Amino acid sequence: MKDERILTFDEFDEMVNPRPEECEFDRVVERALSRRGFLGGVLATGSFTALAGSLLPTGARAAADRFAFEAIPASTADDVIVPPGYKAEVLVRWGDPLWSDAPEFDPATRGTAASQERSFGDNTDGQDVFLHEGHVLLVVNNEYTNRDILWGNNPDAKAASDDDVAKGMMAHGVTVVEIAATDGKWGIVKDSPYNRRITPQTDMSLTGPAAGHDLLKTAADPTGTTSKGTWNNCGNGMTPWGTYLACEENFNGYFSAEDENHEVSAELQRYGVSSKDWGYGWAGIDERFDVSKNPNEPNRAGYVVEIDPTDPASIPRKLTALGRFKHENAEAIVNNDGRVVVYMGDDERGEFLYRFVSEGVYAAGVDTHALLENGTLSVAKFNDDGTGEWLDLTPEATGLASQAEICIHTRQAASAVGATTMDRPEWVAANPNAPEVYCCLTNNKNRGVKPNAGGDDTSVNGPNPREANNYGQIVRWRPEGGDHGASGFEWDLYVLAGNPTVHQDAYGGSDNVNADNMFNSPDGLKFDSNGLLWIQTDGKYSNEGDFEGQGNNQMLAGDPVTGEIRRFLVGPNECEITGLSWSPDRRTMFVGIQHPGEDGNSHWPDGGNSVPRSAIIAVSREDGGLVG
Ligand code: FEO
Ligand code: CA
Ligand code: CA
Ligand code: CA
Repeated sequence: MKDERILTFDEFDEMVNPRPEECEFDRVVERALSRRGFLGGVLATGSFTALAGSLLPTGARAAADRFAFEAIPASTADDVIVPPGYKAEVLVRWGDPLWSDAPEFDPATRGTAASQERSFGDNTDGQDVFLHEGHVLLVVNNEYTNRDILWGNNPDAKAASDDDVAKGMMAHGVTVVEIAATDGKWGIVKDSPYNRRITPQTDMSLTGPAAGHDLLKTAADPTGTTSKGTWNNCGNGMTPWGTYLACEENFNGYFSAEDENHEVSAELQRYGVSSKDWGYGWAGIDERFDVSKNPNEPNRAGYVVEIDPTDPASIPRKLTALGRFKHENAEAIVNNDGRVVVYMGDDERGEFLYRFVSEGVYAAGVDTHALLENGTLSVAKFNDDGTGEWLDLTPEATGLASQAEICIHTRQAASAVGATTMDRPEWVAANPNAPEVYCCLTNNKNRGVKPNAGGDDTSVNGPNPREANNYGQIVRWRPEGGDHGASGFEWDLYVLAGNPTVHQDAYGGSDNVNADNMFNSPDGLKFDSNGLLWIQTDGKYSNEGDFEGQGNNQMLAGDPVTGEIRRFLVGPNECEITGLSWSPDRRTMFVGIQHPGEDGNSHWPDGGNSVPRSAIIAVSREDGGLVG
């Protein structure tokens, strides 16, 4: 056990940028009471279920049970648990070499910068599988690294050299790795020509409205059109033309200033950039990360990055048209009129949900680069009556000087038009069988307590109905006329997570939550090809108090039609489950196990006294049947 807990991203940001308490106690109580009335109506009278039902195609509710597994109980074992008839095997772990010129992971040293750059990165997150000319390519975000584990071989688990700092840097980014099944067991293909590490030092281009803007110019790039590297890549997306979208989330905490009294601009403060970093120390080995010397460098992060996994020499493209914020994932779909629509969450307490609609249409032979460079960026406003609208972010509507500036100061633009503050929008997933879209709102302890980083009010509202919300919910919306480019939509809540064994009010959760399937903090979200919704959690695993009986983080499947939710998998101690994809034959699902043992209490996956390592597992049926 550590004596001192490392703060989470959010806790650190709030420490360096404290927000005023907004509400006096009386006002909080008053609002909670009136909101309880609203919730009571929704939950107790069953109109919540009725609203959900009203969005369904007629006849769909009669569908038979579509789950091909038995629900499993919660678990606090330091192991991956799957239903009877299923098995889980490790595919690739942090530090596994991708080329035979790199050494095997050495637990005594935990590698070097050079070995890490040639190996699978740390903390697996969003992922997708691409089938290219018979090769199966797995592309994975390596979101961040737990410093206690990365440097756990050193006294006090601190970086002891510049190489230690650089090793941490090289553990971030994206991994492209070919995988193959031999005798039914999936593994990586070492030395495949497709294998690639994309790191915070890889050359990138800046595209879209903000490319070349003064705010993106630095000493190293006076043109404002090129950039180096990507980091803190959280969720992901896949374009209809077979490229990968890596989403830059908590990019801010890697910047610092030599002079800790240096005050960063208000614009950067909105994004949590400060003179103190989270302890990675990158400014010490690369001046780009010293915000007093390079105040525009943080403007070059916080984007969605497009990567072509089929060409290891391709230059990743940062897509400024999709806005700059703490991107979770990017759910890209082709609308019925051929335009490409991308739904995206900004994962911070009280931030917003966004939509991009391309100007051009996707058709064979079109310039797909242009599709994600020109379009309309909008932000969601949810009304309490179950309707909502997309507010376009234009210079006229926001008061910002240009579209370029909107693509850089996207949060400020969204605040200016009065978007709805949300309970941390994480992954968005579009139903392949119906024009409806789901988004995990993971939790928000500040709901009704403090404004967001821009000072916007965060009182309870329609899709965010609980104060001090530590369980989370999944909102879904259906665009007007089934047109994802329409400005109007209807919404409801697919599930309010909660603990019905502890709470009898709204904190007990919605009707489809019970003692056998309860969970907290939904985060990862993806539909399989059959239309089942897979839900992954990144929540509290104390198994005590509000979380009693919920065990370790887990993956569940939800039926969007009946609302039923079943637990499919539970992860090892202190992990989060994030990232999901399928083999091309749909007989194996690849699931990400992130930060096992983040507080020092796991030896997964290798057991014994081993160093815990983030890994991707391959889950399949013992009988070789389909899993998605
Ligand atoms: Fe990286 Fe919002 O999770
Ligand atoms: Ca996440
Ligand atoms: Ca999360
Ligand atoms: Ca996380």
